[in-house]
Amino acid sequence: SPALRVTEWSDIVEWWPRLGPASEKYSRGVVGVATGSATYPGAAVLSVGGALAGPTGMVRYAGGARAEVLHQHPSVIATGRVADAGRVQAWVCGSGLGTGEDAAGELRAVLAAPVPVVLDADALTLLVDGSLADRLRNRDAPIVVTPHDREFTRLCGEEPGADRVSAALRLAAWMNATVLLKGDRTVIGTPDGRAYVNPTGTSALATGGTGDVLAGLLGSLLAAGLAPERAAVTAAYLHGLAGREAARGGPVTASDVAAALRPVLAPLVD
Ligand code: APR
Ligand code: MG
Repeated sequence: SPALRVTEWSDIVEWWPRLGPASEKYSRGVVGVATGSATYPGAAVLSVGGALAGPTGMVRYAGGARAEVLHQHPSVIATGRVADAGRVQAWVCGSGLGTGEDAAGELRAVLAAPVPVVLDADALTLLVDGSLADRLRNRDAPIVVTPHDREFTRLCGEEPGADRVSAALRLAAWMNATVLLKGDRTVIGTPDGRAYVNPTGTSALATGGTGDVLAGLLGSLLAAGLAPERAAVTAAYLHGLAGREAARGGPVTASDVAAALRPVLAPLVD
């Protein structure tokens, strides 16, 4: 495919949002995070951790793991529900959310907001329900979906197969969304047919919860104003570098990856 590009560090440097001395929390971006639940509080802590690691001005958490999130991340504003979260510039929704009626209602509230959204994990499972998929195709603000292979298969009704670039582009065109198809070689496809391969992946990331960190980081880049394509490509690239950085200290947990985003991002921050 002629439009296929392997991301380079210079792309990231060019695209990174440079906010300058007059930046304040609203220009840096307010990220809404609707993830986690009483059953899966860790998913909330990790996705909020990813969101806080980006260029973020503020994180508003709306979900069922407020106590755990506030304990780990005291800078967050936590409300119970998406409808009560106030103004945000991008939403991250899905990891550990659950797939019941409550979760579906929160996903609907996220999709009703006129801002970019990242949909991951349980949000993707909920989308397999047709009425929500329609809502998605009719949405004006951008959507980025971040499936791993099994999530892709549920959404598409077929496995990604060997040609992952074509698979990501197919889903992107069908959903009118940017697709970040995760795996040992993560690919990004856009609805208008552009594709990227991420070269920074590492098997150090093959541990539960690193996907939640990625979704949070991606949300922070969208909230800072990056276009969905650039946000997705940048998040995948930096996430891979953070996995490598974390692995220098030995076996890696998802929390280590979130923490390692800081030194990885240090050369980018103005
Ligand atoms: N090489 C490079 N990157 C990898 C590799 C690998 N071998 N394996 C995984 N990764 C990366 C992916 O690209 C992705 O960024 O690690 C991240 C894993 O994200 P997810 O697949 O979303 O996994 P996560 O949600 O963090 O945790 C696993 O997913 O399916 C559920 O039930 C499962 O609870 C489990 C959870
Ligand atoms: Mg996941």
